[in-house]
Amino acid sequence: MRNPFKPSAGTNPPELIGRSGVLATFERGLSERSGGLDATVITGARGIGKTVMLGAAEDLARGRGWGVISETATQRLAGRLQEWIPRHAEPMGRVITVDEIHAVNRRELIQIGADLENLANDGQHVALVVAGLPALVDELLSDESAAFLRSADRIVLRNVPVDDVEESFARTFAGGGFETPAKALRQAAEATEGYPYLIQLVGYHLWREAGDGHGLTAATAARAIGRAQARIARTDLT
Ligand SMILES: Nc1ncnc2c1ncn2[C@@H]1O[C@H](COP(=O)(O)OP(=O)(O)OP(=O)(O)O)[C@@H](O)[C@H]1O
Ligand SMILES: [Mg+2]
Repeated sequence: MRNPFKPSAGTNPPELIGRSGVLATFERGLSERSGGLDATVITGARGIGKTVMLGAAEDLARGRGWGVISETATQRLAGRLQEWIPRHAEPMGRVITVDEIHAVNRRELIQIGADLENLANDGQHVALVVAGLPALVDELLSDESAAFLRSADRIVLRNVPVDDVEESFARTFAGGGFETPAKALRQAAEATEGYPYLIQLVGYHLWREAGDGHGLTAATAARAIGRAQARIARTDLT
């Protein structure tokens, strides 16, 4: 079996650990919508899982029959959204996600706010979900151009529970045909501190170290943790 762990930005992990509460809140928001524009702002440190969370919210919305527009705040975002929206009339409503919202051009943001409010005033259901880095998003929200985002729901993503990491490792490694001794799993899960990027790095290296018949042991876990930590040390997480 191929290594299922995905230690790179924006890629779906084998299991979305510890986010069922956040998704349930999002789902409740969708089902309780009465019309108008609803906005949600997701913040969290680098590698905490913002992009993956946007993807999970999109999947959930699609499954409920909502139209989904998935965007990133690069140049000409306002223009792209304007092109999308009229061509995709949705009886149910639309979920628009914008990743890296902190990078949005302020003048474009004013345009986007006006366009979305027009849609909402037409009685269309629009749910906007944006994600970005905490300090930069705070700075953005204090700008006049982001006035329409100030009443948004806020979700702050944090590290996930280490117990959930351990259970997930147990399932994923068992699914790969490995024996899953509790001690080695615990050691690996604790080393991640529940930080999503590190979960994938440790899982990835553990899978490699445990392969070729070495199995999950204290020794292979220690080697995997060492490699994951060395990789993190070389990663720019600012
Ligand atoms: N809930 C989760 N459980 C397990 N792994 C996760 C989870 N969320 C994200 N990951 C993994 O963590 C890594 C970082 O995820 P992602 O790229 O979504 O973070 P981000 O917050 O968008 O980072 P950045 O600020 O750099 O854009 C990826 O390898 C992803 O597979
Ligand atoms: Mg991201």
